Amino acid sequence: MGVYLGIDIGTSGTKTLAMREDGAILASATREYPLSSPRPGWSEQDPEHWWQATKDSVRRVLKGGRLKPADVAGIGLSGQMHGSVFLDKRHEVVRPALLWNDQRTGDECAEIEQRAGGRQALIGMVANPALTGFTAPKILWLRKHEPRNFDRTVKVLLPKDYVRFRLTGEFATEVSDASGTLLLDVARRRWCGPLLEKLELNASLLPEVFESEEVSGRLTAGAAKELGLASGVPVVGGGGDQAAGAVGNGIVKRGVISATLGTSGVVFAHSDALETDPQGRVHTFCHAVRGKWHVMGVVLSAGGSLQWYRNQFASQEVAQAKRKKVDPYELLTAQAAEAPPGCEGLYFLPYLTGERTPHADPHARGAWIGLSLRHRQPHLVRSVMEGATYAMRDCLEIIEGMNIPVREIRVSGGGARSGFWRQMQADIYGRKVVTTAAEEGPAYGVALLAAAGTGAYKNVVEACTATIELGTGASPDAKAKRIYNRAYPLYGRLYRSLKEDFRAIADVVSGS
Ligand code: XUL
Repeated sequence: MGVYLGIDIGTSGTKTLAMREDGAILASATREYPLSSPRPGWSEQDPEHWWQATKDSVRRVLKGGRLKPADVAGIGLSGQMHGSVFLDKRHEVVRPALLWNDQRTGDECAEIEQRAGGRQALIGMVANPALTGFTAPKILWLRKHEPRNFDRTVKVLLPKDYVRFRLTGEFATEVSDASGTLLLDVARRRWCGPLLEKLELNASLLPEVFESEEVSGRLTAGAAKELGLASGVPVVGGGGDQAAGAVGNGIVKRGVISATLGTSGVVFAHSDALETDPQGRVHTFCHAVRGKWHVMGVVLSAGGSLQWYRNQFASQEVAQAKRKKVDPYELLTAQAAEAPPGCEGLYFLPYLTGERTPHADPHARGAWIGLSLRHRQPHLVRSVMEGATYAMRDCLEIIEGMNIPVREIRVSGGGARSGFWRQMQADIYGRKVVTTAAEEGPAYGVALLAAAGTGAYKNVVEACTATIELGTGASPDAKAKRIYNRAYPLYGRLYRSLKEDFRAIADVVSGS
């Protein structure tokens, strides 16, 4: 049986896993690397670190899985989306890559909208509005602020596509990750000539676009030697981390939605046709399933809000957890369970790093609202979890409003591993949720794409059906569901009431 490698170039590290054709995981390894923030709001990484981490993790997986070079039948690549690697004519990196969470491009987003002829015209061309994290504003930033570096640049690649270049010598990307550049005609699945013209960007800067399961190149002899693999191994397109993670969770048909509660929270829906939100509150990107699309809402600080709470307010629980040798989150959720659903009127707005969906507001801030003398620590921690889950429900409601049916919700991430948070999700979404049996994330999704693209399966849908099994479910509790249905509309109103004040706070801070 063939073995497939999935390589995920994440923000904190690169994870490689080896999957047997029947879906069994043989080995996995992660190698971490740093992120640098040379100025507030900037976020950069050295692409060389990705390549070193790829080599290291592949070698460790081969050793851990006792694999011979000839066993590996295909490779799939995934990675953090939107980042920009600038290469010169000698194919060397011009400057550190700007990442998805870099916030320096507010002016360039406004410039793109204006050059495109307005927000609606832009959404008409590339299915999405301009957001600071996306790639196109990063290219415009380079042109404006580092013109010498811009003039030297002959190619702009996404993070995983830089690793593809080191593996195969090819300049290539695939539709799901390319959608997040803001330069792809998402409807036609090819670069958007009219927008490139309006932005005065040369199309030769961009790599060739493939479907996610197509073979985009083959391992060169040099790379094969460095990785301990055989030369000529096919490398398929792969996918941006969200689309790839969705494939790994089996989100490959209409009606099946995923809700992933990690540091950020993502609600992801497959769609058979191109569906855009006229207000641009959710992203519409090509899916890693050939000829299909997906819609996703992104909550920037979901699990991140609870992590913030743990770090700032729970040093006692962290110390206690250390003594008991348990996860501090176990103690925190046990504490949260002491407060009733709805926290007796206490709300938490989880906008600790601004928000993407539904507000697209970099100035939004976190807040506790509704405190009274009755509130104790259990209310505080529970309200943080409820606030993050209401934010996920915001995404779900927009997606449903776009006539995308929500028949099954597959939950993953830290928020699914906790039985308490899983139940809270069922109660707040008002629907049954279910986990998947093995949760390996994007690396697993692209290993499946590699298996499908090299002929082990007819296509990625067949690969998912053959390999993915469901795990534990949770159904809504009628009483809690009723309480949350009454509390949720007010959660949305609180942001709207505070929106202008959040902007005023930003002005105060920038003026001080
Ligand atoms: C997706 C997004 C993140 C990054 C980093 O739009 O910004 O998922 O890909 O994980």
